[in-house]
Amino acid sequence: MATLAEPSLAFTRLPHPSLVPADVRDAALTDPGFGKLFSDHMVSIDWSEGADGIGAWHNATVGPLTAIPLHPAAAVLHYAQEIFEGLKAYRLQDGTMALFRPEANAARFNASAKRLAMPSLPEDLFVEACRQLVAVDRSWFPDVQGGSLYLRPFMIATEAFLGVRPAKQYKFMIIASPAGNYFKSGAPAVSIWVSQYTRAAPGGTGAAKCGGNYAASLVPQAEALERGHDQVVFLDAAEHKWIEELGGMNLYFVFEDGTLLTPPLNGTILPGITRNSLLTLAREEGLTVREEPYSIDQWRADAASGKLLETFACGTAAVVTAVGKVTDPVTGEFTIGTGGPGQLTQRLKARLVAIQRGEAEDTHGWVMRLS
Ligand code: PLP
Ligand code: COI
Repeated sequence: MATLAEPSLAFTRLPHPSLVPADVRDAALTDPGFGKLFSDHMVSIDWSEGADGIGAWHNATVGPLTAIPLHPAAAVLHYAQEIFEGLKAYRLQDGTMALFRPEANAARFNASAKRLAMPSLPEDLFVEACRQLVAVDRSWFPDVQGGSLYLRPFMIATEAFLGVRPAKQYKFMIIASPAGNYFKSGAPAVSIWVSQYTRAAPGGTGAAKCGGNYAASLVPQAEALERGHDQVVFLDAAEHKWIEELGGMNLYFVFEDGTLLTPPLNGTILPGITRNSLLTLAREEGLTVREEPYSIDQWRADAASGKLLETFACGTAAVVTAVGKVTDPVTGEFTIGTGGPGQLTQRLKARLVAIQRGEAEDTHGWVMRLS
């Protein structure tokens, strides 16, 4: 079991004048969907650089969820100096709330901050901020199949100036959103559209979780939806040949010889925490997992020959989701396996979910109990 460290900054609790009435909240929680509902509170911590050029975090609060004042010249609005994370709080069988690998999110947050020239946030403070919000809004946990309280930590540059340089003032915040299934249909297998657009180039920001990457993915994702597909898959920028990832998920491929493959972390894809957890679980089962480039042509050929049995996508929001059908606008459509979730996809998903929800032993210390 992961343990909580003593935070490096104390939080002030601001009173909430008008909580959402319990009956309204509970009615909304019966069908939360994804990202539509927000809990009563939010966390906020400010960072500013003093005259001596030294910056510090201060003013840590847990207060009512509310709009934030922002100067029209705030750097985030012009040059997109913004990063975020996504992690879920679960209610374990004994009623305790828990986070899954929050230190990994904290570490990735700081890696993103570094790439976007933003200050790093002590990991203990990131985790404590998550804990504070879950403690105050645990009644927003939706008791539905696959339900969780999705936490969205983020940081924006708030300094008002128009020069192109790193800002000297930032705000870190966390909001919480009760979540059910990520895919509207709760689909057993999703269909994928191969984008002609690229998401990230070598040397760019593909490995950082910054808003700009997602802004760039909106047109290709809309194109996927227009063509009747659930998600877009991006190929590499240089050769437009190597499979990278989906708009918000990493990919795994399962072969008939029992091996798995996932594209390597070469700087253009997000180092997914789910991807990493599944790598560990699969290797623990004695499976061979290769982190190697895999081309779109090979994907099609292996699906056709039967060498490839399954493909699945993984991420915090979508957990583990089978990919059933792929359409390339140039070369056409192909189906993977039966077009539905394969055996290994289901087994790995079940193992991961059981650990996350405290139903299986947490041998890796991934589950952090909060209270
Ligand atoms: N790839 C992208 C582009 C993402 O946005 C996400 C989601 O956070 C992932 C992969 C999966 O990462 P994780 O498993 O840490 O949620
Ligand atoms: C997540 O899985 O947490 C994501 O951030 C994916 C998407 C909602 C952006």
